[in-house]
Amino acid sequence: MTILVTGGTGYIGTHTVIELLEAGQEVVIVDNLINSSIEALHRVESISGKSVSFYQGDVLNKAFLQKVFTDHDIQSVIHFAGLKAVGESVVQPLRYYENNVTGTLVLCEVMAENGVKNLVFSSSATVYGDPASLPITEAFPTAATNPYGQSKLMVEHILKDLHQADPSWNIARLRYFNPVGAHPSGRIGEDPNDIPNNLMPFIAQVAVGKRETLSIFGDDYNTHDGTGVRDYIHVVDLAIGHLRALDRLSTNPGIVTYNLGTGQGYSVIDMVKAFEKASGKTINYQIVDRRPGDIAACYADTQKAHNELNWRATHGIDEMASSSWHWQSSNPNGYSD
Ligand code: NAD
Ligand code: UFG
Repeated sequence: MTILVTGGTGYIGTHTVIELLEAGQEVVIVDNLINSSIEALHRVESISGKSVSFYQGDVLNKAFLQKVFTDHDIQSVIHFAGLKAVGESVVQPLRYYENNVTGTLVLCEVMAENGVKNLVFSSSATVYGDPASLPITEAFPTAATNPYGQSKLMVEHILKDLHQADPSWNIARLRYFNPVGAHPSGRIGEDPNDIPNNLMPFIAQVAVGKRETLSIFGDDYNTHDGTGVRDYIHVVDLAIGHLRALDRLSTNPGIVTYNLGTGQGYSVIDMVKAFEKASGKTINYQIVDRRPGDIAACYADTQKAHNELNWRATHGIDEMASSSWHWQSSNPNGYSD
């Protein structure tokens, strides 16, 4: 029995593949390497001491996907493959809808044609828009404010309709909060192609000397220090959440939705301080205008995942910062080192 991981050479994919391999699962990866490197696969294999079948190709390519399903006895799919840059999605909406929505449609068609109906989908806390209160439960209303978030919400709806039409599908829609940190080996981690959009990789690049100053987007929010608050979750905890979701689908068939976060909110300044402590470096920063589209605060109610998946994040902010620093300082140029 094999698990297909689309987007398996990406940031969350690599960490999840390691956990799957450690749990004794056979893994096949499909990735077109649009936002990842083949070196990530080599490192996953070297860390785990196991080999992984890898197919370089696009989930939009039905014939290609069909071959993967013919070659392997796939039982379940974890679908990470997607584009994730919010700002880019505003400029290139068609590309985002095609990749994230059509890509999922093609994948589901091929799964159905092969009788594979167990799917774990990467959704995002972005589907909650600007929540009316905190913490956010899975029952909160959803609203997307950009094409990226809209593409996640559309896929969530499509999967619900799919399950309604054919209840033999088992689907977990996992809403990630803010994934950060890296594998304890320091050999895999987040490797942004360009200037990082997200806070943690940006801080890490300032610490390692690749960038001079962090711009903090606003210090006048209604939060404990005025900077934005988020629910940062260690990527290894997040990865393990996927294994628990697969377990859940095998014992309790159906369609489920879970927040994967820690339930704890930290501000931008909190993250800067944690990183300074972990790295022993000073993070230069300046306060600039708010970033359009940002919300003041966001953190999860994690009770449902705890009760139903028997899962809870165990890594705290210090481990998030230290693992991120371990990865960044050992690989200042990411996988190209
Ligand atoms: P990532 O970019 O590191 O990984 C995504 C992988 O998918 C990459 O390796 C990329 O090459 C591949 N890919 C993209 N389009 C593809 C296609 N059409 N065919 C085949 N491969 C394709 O991103 P990540 O941070 O690991 O995110 C994984 C998933 O989780 C994404 O769907 C993302 O939207 C979602 N997510 C991420 C975050 C986050 O902050 N990292 C938060 C919420 C949700
Ligand atoms: N921030 C800065 N400076 C930076 C980058 C970020 O001050 O250079 C601040 C932001 O204003 C925000 C916080 O740091 O207050 C976190 O910002 P990120 O860009 O790291 O994360 P977001 O919460 O904005 O968005 C992320 C992903 C989205 C996803 C969302 C919820 O980028 O794709 O989490 O999962 F939808």
